Amino acid sequence: MKIRAAVLEDFGQPLEVQEVDLAEPKSGEVLVRLTACGVCHTDLYTASGADPSGYAPTVLGHEGAGVVEKLGPDVTSVTPGDQVVTLFSPQCRECIHCLSDRTNLCLAIRDMQGKGFLPDGTTRLGRGSEPIRHFMGTSTFAEYTVMPEIALAKVNPEAPPEHACLFACGLSTGLGAVMNTAKVEAGATCVVFGAGMVGLGAVAGCRLQGAERIVCVDLSPGRLDLATAQGATDTLVGGPDTVERILEMTAGFGADYTFEATGNVDVMRQAVESARMGWGLCTVAGVAGKGEVLEVVPRYLITGRRVAGSSFGGVKGRDQVPEYVERALAGDIDVGAFVSHRITLGDVNRGFELMEAQDGIRSVIEFA
Ligand SMILES: NC(=O)c1ccc[n+]([C@@H]2O[C@H](COP(=O)([O-])OP(=O)(O)OC[C@H]3O[C@@H](n4cnc5c(N)ncnc54)[C@H](O)[C@@H]3O)[C@@H](O)[C@H]2O)c1
Ligand SMILES: [Zn+2]
Ligand SMILES: [Zn+2]
Repeated sequence: MKIRAAVLEDFGQPLEVQEVDLAEPKSGEVLVRLTACGVCHTDLYTASGADPSGYAPTVLGHEGAGVVEKLGPDVTSVTPGDQVVTLFSPQCRECIHCLSDRTNLCLAIRDMQGKGFLPDGTTRLGRGSEPIRHFMGTSTFAEYTVMPEIALAKVNPEAPPEHACLFACGLSTGLGAVMNTAKVEAGATCVVFGAGMVGLGAVAGCRLQGAERIVCVDLSPGRLDLATAQGATDTLVGGPDTVERILEMTAGFGADYTFEATGNVDVMRQAVESARMGWGLCTVAGVAGKGEVLEVVPRYLITGRRVAGSSFGGVKGRDQVPEYVERALAGDIDVGAFVSHRITLGDVNRGFELMEAQDGIRSVIEFA
């Protein structure tokens, strides 16, 4: 079929919205009609050419929500009409990682997905005889996409698509870092560095876990106001003295749990040093630039602090994304507060500009 999609033709160039071909879903694959899609840093990171593993041409986009349109052979877990959230981090439920409750890093299709192919090593996207690669296994800046069923979370059909799509990446990452990776308990003192989509999700997660104190650190006072609305009890404009100020706020000890959601390695270091001796856990969710290194003075570790990384918040997508969507529908998470701009697919480059200008938390593409 012919679909409209935003194609990255060359790194550093605006995306070109154009007609491309999309082939029928093969075994284990599903045709999804997109209804909404967030514009995320990872899309821009790849478009800019900064990502060393990037490739072109490709259809970008990974924060998608949509409706199942058609099934390939052997698909059993979704049916046409289901509302789904796209998962760049799939869950096959069979590999050694899926069978462990210690990680969400499914191994089933990793190699092919990283190269821009569907699991059988080919693409469904193309232009005539020229293949176009699939980005993050999702390619959701498009009217339709074909994805493996193991990368689709079936969610409540009542959820508004422009809210559901945010659970495909940043929001689940923040919530999951708190609930899965750190497992924050009631009464805890937490510090969240960064009040973008991921950090605000972490603030909401700390509140849902019953944390007593939630300090949010950002450079932007406007974003700190959003953090307060999500449940932060204290806010701090970040700077070189952030660690000292957090120690002052916590009787000299630091926090039980710290979360880093900026991608800045200096902030990661502050997050490690703001965790308390004895048991403080620093969870790193931010993605650092190529070649950057996190410096940790070993004494911080010897004296009982720990550092953990978290990819997609440790979220097992097919199981947990539907649960998070239910919590949002129950009124536990104010997802609407994160949707700052509603745009069309043709405006996708404007979504990038708004993001670069830090104008709003998320621009969401709505499909007619
Ligand atoms: N681990 C994962 O699976 C995963 C998933 C999505 C995003 N990410 C990463 O998480 C990070 C955050 O993503 P986002 O979408 O929330 O980004 P964002 O740009 O919207 O938010 C980052 C925030 O950090 C703040 N910040 C920057 N420097 C700071 C400093 N020195 N002190 C305090 N705050 C500072 C900014 O003001 C901004 O509000 C990025 O690095 C992104 O690549 C990781
Ligand atoms: Zn993302
Ligand atoms: Zn798996």
